[in-house]
Amino acid sequence: MARIPDAFIDELLARTDIVEVIGSRVPLKRQGREYAALCPFHDERSPSFTVSPTKQFYHCFGCGAHGTAISFLMNYDRLEFLDAVEELAKRAGMDVPRDTRARNENGESRELYAALEAAARFFQQQLQGSAKARAYLDRRGVSAEIRARFGIGYAPDGWEGLKAALGTDERRLALLEKVGLFSRNDAGRVYDKFRDRVMFPIHDRRGRVIAFGGRVLEKDDGPKYLNSPETALFHKGRELYGLWQVRQAHARIPRLVVVEGYMDVLSLFQYGVDTAVATLGTATTPEHAELLFRNAADVYFCFDGDRAGRSAAWRALESVLPRMRDGRQAFFLFLPEGEDPDSIVRKEGAAGFDARLQQATPLSAFFFAELGKDVNLGGVEGKARLAERARPLLAQIPDGAFRDLMYQRLAELTGVGAVVTAGPPPAAPPPAPGGGRGPAPKRSLVRTAIGLLLQKPALAEAVEPPYLFAVLRQPGIPLLMEILSLARSRPGISTGAVLEHFAGRDEEAALQKLAAQDFPGDEAGWRAELLDALAQLDRQTRQQRLEELNDRVRDVGMSGLSEAEKAELRELHAAR
Ligand code: UTP
Ligand code: MN
Repeated sequence: MARIPDAFIDELLARTDIVEVIGSRVPLKRQGREYAALCPFHDERSPSFTVSPTKQFYHCFGCGAHGTAISFLMNYDRLEFLDAVEELAKRAGMDVPRDTRARNENGESRELYAALEAAARFFQQQLQGSAKARAYLDRRGVSAEIRARFGIGYAPDGWEGLKAALGTDERRLALLEKVGLFSRNDAGRVYDKFRDRVMFPIHDRRGRVIAFGGRVLEKDDGPKYLNSPETALFHKGRELYGLWQVRQAHARIPRLVVVEGYMDVLSLFQYGVDTAVATLGTATTPEHAELLFRNAADVYFCFDGDRAGRSAAWRALESVLPRMRDGRQAFFLFLPEGEDPDSIVRKEGAAGFDARLQQATPLSAFFFAELGKDVNLGGVEGKARLAERARPLLAQIPDGAFRDLMYQRLAELTGVGAVVTAGPPPAAPPPAPGGGRGPAPKRSLVRTAIGLLLQKPALAEAVEPPYLFAVLRQPGIPLLMEILSLARSRPGISTGAVLEHFAGRDEEAALQKLAAQDFPGDEAGWRAELLDALAQLDRQTRQQRLEELNDRVRDVGMSGLSEAEKAELRELHAAR
């Protein structure tokens, strides 16, 4: 899916009034500075759902539902992100950037979807009429429930089954050809592409059929699987078989299990592992990786244990590395020789398969095991080689604790690598406020600062660089920096729009809670409090540096320090 520029989203949210959007769907009651309602996302007797016109977001203190006008439409009207954006843009009189809109609005695409839907129905009817195809699915143990859930069908033998049934006029013929259901011979004759095959419709994220996979019934009858070609609606590097069904089964997807085949997905679902998706006869692409992580924080890649499986796993790892933001986890599961998820789950059941998932290799372990496979880590040369191989890959990991830990691991293995750790030191998101257990935690300076910036993002304008505290080793500092620079680069941005930038990230929930709090006082007071908190963080940063230099003095003596370091040390002492 083409990305919509952040600036457009910001502008869209700035021009949208969330109170109007929600108010037209849920009766809202004014309550002080905010609006309240019975939460539309859970059952309740007294209203705990609030909408804030100043912050431009909604928040339910009962069930925790929260977000901007965009997420409200996604959750309430069950729209996809793009469609929610379209809807709001229409209200605001804005044009969604062209290339992202094209696929959505194009009048013809509607007809293409309809042609695919009709084909899917035709194949399903054919399955009912074909004893041979039903016998095949029986033999493979595919239940009636699964056949229905995945819309399994059968493409009849012969050259013109589909063509005769649906290609009733020139226009329909052309549409069916465009969606990849026909082939054309040298003489220009058009005929059914899928013949005598079990048909697996491939759905997009909204449940529309966009392509098919077809499997032969008999061995030696052409390629085992045939997929639709790339079309206007189908790009196999961006789609995952089964994702629609997984999303139907879960409000919140706990994890995704990526397998290689159609039958694997079917069997896993049938035995209760309803989190399985498959790539469509391709390696895992970076687009797959993004799609996977947008749907679940934990992703398990499942491969054969043979050489081909390990090299496919490595390619998946390469696609995933640049997407490994903090909070995301990838695991690799290798199956015994000759087995696939289909055969395993039939033998071992969901419990057995889950047990294997529990034992899966974390990305970090697989990474160093593969890279270190043929190097002798006992020697200097081997260590150097490992470091050399690892660095360009590690450099692709986004800034954050995971990246730092990977560098640290490299350093442990080789004795080098720690020095190349660019970027900020390890940091965790700020702890959720009012955690509930034990005495109320004192609000940390970092949390205070973030809370104030969320209360009123425009406060950031008062905070001038340089930011000494950027290098402070404390949880939440990178997050604070990110919010600060976001708010400064987009003057006038609303709280809701800031939160939208963190949608789907681990920090989202904690930020949402912070944003929902009301700070006492007024803007001038908040500004003073923010500047004070940041000044204290600066002081702590100087202290941190002082301790570092003192440690150096202890290690190498005063004479081991450079002139610059000595000067710095004097200054830091003077400033105390
Ligand atoms: P397998 O041949 O391992 O599939 O290919 P499978 O699911 O175990 O097949 P069954 O159990 O014999 O039915 C795995 C996947 O690779 C793609 C398909 O997506 C298939 O599901 N593939 C395989 C093709 O695209 N073309 C082929 O000719 C073979
Ligand atoms: Mn198989």
